[in-house]
Amino acid sequence: MQTNQQLPLPIMGCGTWAWGNRLLWGYEQSMDEQLQQVFNLCVENGVTLFDTGDSYGTGRLNGRSEILLGKFSQEYIGKNQANICLATKLAPYPWRLTRGAMVAAGKASAKRLGRIDLVQMHWSTANYFPWQEWQLLDGLAELYEQGLVKGVGLSNYGPKRLKQVYQKFHNRNIPITTLQVQYSLLSTYPVTELGVKEVCDELGIKLIAYSPLALGFLTGKYSEKDNLPTGLRRLVGKQILSGARSLLNCLAAIAQSKNKTMSQVAINWCICKGTIPIPGAKSLQQAQENIGALGWFLDAGEVEELDKAAASVDKAMVQNIFQSN
Ligand SMILES: NC(=O)c1ccc[n+]([C@@H]2O[C@H](COP(=O)([O-])OP(=O)(O)OC[C@H]3O[C@@H](n4cnc5c(N)ncnc54)[C@H](OP(=O)(O)O)[C@@H]3O)[C@@H](O)[C@H]2O)c1
Repeated sequence: MQTNQQLPLPIMGCGTWAWGNRLLWGYEQSMDEQLQQVFNLCVENGVTLFDTGDSYGTGRLNGRSEILLGKFSQEYIGKNQANICLATKLAPYPWRLTRGAMVAAGKASAKRLGRIDLVQMHWSTANYFPWQEWQLLDGLAELYEQGLVKGVGLSNYGPKRLKQVYQKFHNRNIPITTLQVQYSLLSTYPVTELGVKEVCDELGIKLIAYSPLALGFLTGKYSEKDNLPTGLRRLVGKQILSGARSLLNCLAAIAQSKNKTMSQVAINWCICKGTIPIPGAKSLQQAQENIGALGWFLDAGEVEELDKAAASVDKAMVQNIFQSN
């Protein structure tokens, strides 16, 4: 069995929430084909960590995100094939209460994906039902011990809870490989306020930055005046865009000076902060652009400028309600 330390984690991953989400609204064959092209392009270019979750897709599309990712991975033949890392997150649903339920959930996800390289607890129940997750974490540990997953990670955990869980796994000789939190220039809270990066470094855990483009608000394509997205993101845009103008201007200026796009600079900033960003891409064009965030680095002065601009934002992105302390 591949040990945790050997997990093939690249410096950038690709989130699949966009896949799951799109599939909620209407499934089309052509969309799957396009997503497969996105997958292939990413792997060819060395982006080999793919993140999904067993809660992505509801109703008749339940599990569809994992099924598609498994299919794409199995059908891919070519460069970097051996480095593909399939990560999924198991949700601590209120009806998932026992160790056995978590093991069953892991087996169901592994069947859809073909295999699991990294299994993650999707969120901590610390904020509303602190005792529930201990049984479920036992289930994650068992998946690892039975060799059904190659590594274990967490998601939306703050330093206090992370240390408790780390100790629990350490006692069973199981390493925690990764923690994923909402981290971007518009969501610095987990690092600047909670201090998760320091704790991760101390414990040897890699930090994954989810929503590194702040759901698209850092790409420069939205404006508070005349171009807001639709749906829930419209509300978020109305709340944050005007107060984020100086940050977006700073991002645009740095992007122009480096002959990069704003998305590329926003993703590269996450990399410079020592995290593994997993931007969601819904098209080949977006994937191609996001891949352009690799192979170069912002200089220290540019990172500092962006840090200052991020700190001056009026209203940051709302944090995930499940983010624990
Ligand atoms: N652990 C958790 O609780 C959690 C929560 C959320 C997400 N995640 C993970 O993180 C991944 C990414 O997060 P996310 O999708 O929420 O946010 P994101 O990466 O910040 O934003 C992705 C969205 O931005 C737009 N976009 C992406 N690249 C673009 C480009 N180059 N140019 C213009 N627009 C672009 C696309 O939406 P449009 O085309 O519609 O604008 C895309 O869906 C997810 O897939 C998931 O795996 C984890």
